[in-house]
Amino acid sequence: MFQNIVFQTPTIIFGIDTISQIGQQAKNLGAGRILLITGPQVKKAGVLDKVLSFLKVDGITVEVNLQDRDTPEPATDLVEKTAEIARNGNFDVIVGLGGGSILDVAKMVSALMTNPGKTADYFGKEKVPKRGKPTIIVPTTAGTGAEVTKHAIFLDRSINVKMVVASSNLLPNVAIVDPVLTLSCPPSVTASSGIDAFIHSAEAFLSKNANTITDTLALESISIITKWLGPAFADGNDMEARYQMSLGSLMAGIVLNNSGTSLVHAMAYPVGGEHHTPHGVTLSALMLACFDYVAVAREAKMALLAKAMGEPIEGLSSRDVVAQALDAIRHLIESVNLPVSLTDLDIDREETDIHQWAVEAHKEQRLLSRSPRILTVEDIEIIYENAFE
Ligand SMILES: [Fe+2]
Repeated sequence: MFQNIVFQTPTIIFGIDTISQIGQQAKNLGAGRILLITGPQVKKAGVLDKVLSFLKVDGITVEVNLQDRDTPEPATDLVEKTAEIARNGNFDVIVGLGGGSILDVAKMVSALMTNPGKTADYFGKEKVPKRGKPTIIVPTTAGTGAEVTKHAIFLDRSINVKMVVASSNLLPNVAIVDPVLTLSCPPSVTASSGIDAFIHSAEAFLSKNANTITDTLALESISIITKWLGPAFADGNDMEARYQMSLGSLMAGIVLNNSGTSLVHAMAYPVGGEHHTPHGVTLSALMLACFDYVAVAREAKMALLAKAMGEPIEGLSSRDVVAQALDAIRHLIESVNLPVSLTDLDIDREETDIHQWAVEAHKEQRLLSRSPRILTVEDIEIIYENAFE
């Protein structure tokens, strides 16, 4: 089969203590004046001071902007406030330092410095006409992949719905991924962001948009995350586990950016919007029901996924291989104390309007069009129903 492949990544700098290169990278991008966007946790953990020390370079001045969120996803009104500061401050480079939400804010703020209007004007696919100011994106968790993607997700406060800006012009210039910066990440965040990364690779691998390059990265990252998520969750100071999770998550982020997520992410939107459950936790509660439903379209790939997870599948029927893959995923989720169902997530089936959720999820055609199984609203209702069991 012939494939047409477009493959996009920022400049990636990965490894222990690579954060020491941030000053030089900022200079290469024309700094000058830097607006560094981060959050209170990063400051508290001492990571901000460490990064600032590497930005003490001749000719560079840094203004720190601390984001104080009241929702799991950043709300658009907070982005607008930061964009106002950025537009008035004559900055040359934007640095984002933190978890996925902070990084999304930094990417969007950079875009709003060269494009008029508000975040909501750019919801959807490829709506940002111009590249923003140069960005250096530095994750302090391993999972979201935001450092290498063109996506940013926000809560539109006016309608209380999570919305996405998906534009190539949002792709960061430089991603610095230093596993040392993830040492202070607490176990619950290590687990939920690590599972998010697993799903980026697994979903993209099963999707219609998969290609040979992303498949190779997806299988290797699935293998790394399966092996190292448990150790990183169990002992946050295990440097090798942190190193491997940062690498696996980075690879999964590249897969996400180039093949895209699908059903699990689409179905998580209405759930997260209503219950404000963290992204990775919501996905984890839906993953088994989703993969079980689409496996019929991808039995051969489910075998490769099981194999990447270290499962012995020799001699098994394809039906048993699918069951084995799902069982391995269930074990991975449970081993890091995450929910395997919506009931586990403490959502009450009786108080849930599954039909409404399915209608909303079905609108996410940007994601659902990549599903290996064509899904109607009724199909999605069945999957939600199964996810309660
Ligand atoms: Fe995700």
